[in-house]
Amino acid sequence: MYNSRHTSDEMIEKVRKTGEFMFTSFAQKRDPCESLFKKVMSSYQAMSGNSKKGITGFNVGVTVQPNLPMPGQPSKSNTLNEVNNGASSEMKHLWQATDYATLQELHPTTLEPIDISHHPDLHPDLKGPLTGAHSRTDPVTGDWYNYNMEVGRQTTYRVFCVSAKTGKTEILATLSGPDIKAAYLHSIMLTENYVILCLFDAYFAMNGAKMLWTRNELDAMYFDPNKKNVWLVIDRRHGQGLVGMYESDPFFCFHPVNAWEQPSQTEFNKVDIVTDLPTYENLDILNRFYYANMKATSQGARNFTGEKGESSRPVLARYKLSGIGNTKIATTSEPRKAECLFVSSKDDAPELPTFNLNYATKPSRYIYGVCDRGNSSFLDGLVKYDTQTNTSIARVIHAQSPGEPIFLPNPEGTEEDDGVCLSVVLDGIKGKSYLLVLDARSFEEIARADMDLVVPFGFHGTHVASP
Ligand SMILES: [Fe+2]
Repeated sequence: MYNSRHTSDEMIEKVRKTGEFMFTSFAQKRDPCESLFKKVMSSYQAMSGNSKKGITGFNVGVTVQPNLPMPGQPSKSNTLNEVNNGASSEMKHLWQATDYATLQELHPTTLEPIDISHHPDLHPDLKGPLTGAHSRTDPVTGDWYNYNMEVGRQTTYRVFCVSAKTGKTEILATLSGPDIKAAYLHSIMLTENYVILCLFDAYFAMNGAKMLWTRNELDAMYFDPNKKNVWLVIDRRHGQGLVGMYESDPFFCFHPVNAWEQPSQTEFNKVDIVTDLPTYENLDILNRFYYANMKATSQGARNFTGEKGESSRPVLARYKLSGIGNTKIATTSEPRKAECLFVSSKDDAPELPTFNLNYATKPSRYIYGVCDRGNSSFLDGLVKYDTQTNTSIARVIHAQSPGEPIFLPNPEGTEEDDGVCLSVVLDGIKGKSYLLVLDARSFEEIARADMDLVVPFGFHGTHVASP
């Protein structure tokens, strides 16, 4: 069975009636359908109060998250990890999220929007408009973590946790200061004891105030090659707040992959944090995905293919933050150096990355993603990256455009890459989609389910085992 539906009917209707897209969004609204980032667009007028809008007056469709422990919906025995591993087959609640601080609940089967929630509903201090579309869930407790960013004269990040047991929200750290700039953070990182924010080099001009007249995030963003990325490590166990500050060379990133702790080899009673990230040398990737630049026959596409496209292709980088303890520090502390351990080639790098979630917050070796080998004006194929050998296996077939892969572990497997990879692929020759099942070890095709239609591209999906 295949089902799909719009989840922003009220917003669409308003645009249809008025002929205007009057909401602040992620990218320019040359035409509401012109950019792939319409998926990221959210109706930001909630900045000035949104109580009059109905459940479908928002566009929230970037990530889908089953069984988030929202207020009034604690899901004690049903953590995200259990769902992803097939240990639990019941999807009680399905939420959508975006980079705007609004979540929308859908009926898990009909996909009908049934509820809307804004960050102040979680905690009154979470009053900023922006957040990460990707929150993180503790693989053991199901508690979920994210940040809320308030913009204005001073930028304030509030890192919070919603308890799976009680549905209550706790603010773990409130961060502001001269080095705490307003930046576009699509995702955070989580280890066993810490939440990590990296202030990627995608800054909002005038601490976000420029958005008031650009009416979109992208045109208010800039890359500063002279400013280092600031990494903030927040304790999530002992109430210490900020316990580590690091800096690295500037880069932009959408999707950090896994992160974990390992004992420090040089500092007693401290740990190092290791994390993998697909990184970009500037913000060209953000402009590349306007439809006018993606159509292979368009003039715009020529600005992003061949040599001109190099800067919008990522590499996979591994970073280490050394010597983290549990002593509270101030945001004015002298940052330590984040160390880059390796960088992949651009051909090997996975984007929209995923991994075996049984290894979340533990050392992991394999990363699955889509690759961009510069063969087309879109994504070229699927890739499996081995961080131990720094090699990759790719499935790149002409005119076969894949969506984000989803890794499912073999329930009886013991090896990290024992499982399958699912991806919805558009066959550009037939003009139809299919669900592809790859052996996650060899990357050979095991099966496919042909569909008699095109499944529209989104960015992110999830898998829940059937009952
Ligand atoms: Fe994303």
